[in-house]
Amino acid sequence: MSVNKEVKRITTHILQEMKLRGEKISMLTAYDFSMATILDDAGLDVLLVGDSASNVMAGHETTLPITLDQMIYHAQSVVRGAGRSFVVVDLPFGSYQGNSKEALNSAIRIMKESGAHGVKLEGGTEVVDSIQRIITAGIPVMGHLGLTPQSIYKFGTYTVRAKGEEEAEKLKTDAIALEQAGCFAIVLEKIPALLGKEVSQSLHIPTIGIGAGPDCDGQVLVVNDMVGLTKGFKPRFLRQYLNLYEGIKEAAQSYVKDVKGNDFPNEKEQY
Ligand code: KIV
Repeated sequence: MSVNKEVKRITTHILQEMKLRGEKISMLTAYDFSMATILDDAGLDVLLVGDSASNVMAGHETTLPITLDQMIYHAQSVVRGAGRSFVVVDLPFGSYQGNSKEALNSAIRIMKESGAHGVKLEGGTEVVDSIQRIITAGIPVMGHLGLTPQSIYKFGTYTVRAKGEEEAEKLKTDAIALEQAGCFAIVLEKIPALLGKEVSQSLHIPTIGIGAGPDCDGQVLVVNDMVGLTKGFKPRFLRQYLNLYEGIKEAAQSYVKDVKGNDFPNEKEQY
């Protein structure tokens, strides 16, 4: 299906219509201006300024260390590059779990200081109060269920979630609670494909899957993984479209060779 570039800006309303007519939603993460410009030009519906920036941009082992100020900096850069895509920003760990007022203040800072179009936060029924308060202030909220990396130390592993009946039931209850709270979409991360299908079919709002099977209403990947910038990270759900790690390494090796060999700059590359 071709990308409709007539649309000036993707909105939550358009994402809802896409679910209704069965058009899949395309989403990738972005953390800087250059990448956002390329992805926007490529026709991505949604750009997620994910707290995975903590891993792929800053080199941390988990998403926990990234701060609200750092997320706002990434979001500002992405917003400047996004003409058509809807930009969603993760509320980082520690910026919303305290209480709903803290959550609202963090969401307001993101919207006011970056110009993004919505926020995302992890969790189910336990964050419903915060979600309602943020939405009441007019800020669109995307939920996130299944593997929730901000709780990694509670679970201890990044393995597939909700394989057992009890966890699957909790996820289904959480998904309905998020929809009723007013979320415009929900990310489902690393859950069985059949559960991804069941949840997607039971909701009116779109689901965006990452390792949650083909029946979600859209798909998201971390862009650095998708273009092969992250070395040695190959989970089953990842389709790698490029090998930029090797491509950039080869380019850098050629540059080193040219500089050392006095081949760069040549006569045409000087004033
Ligand atoms: O931070 C992130 O990149 C995410 C995606 C994995 C959905 O939340």
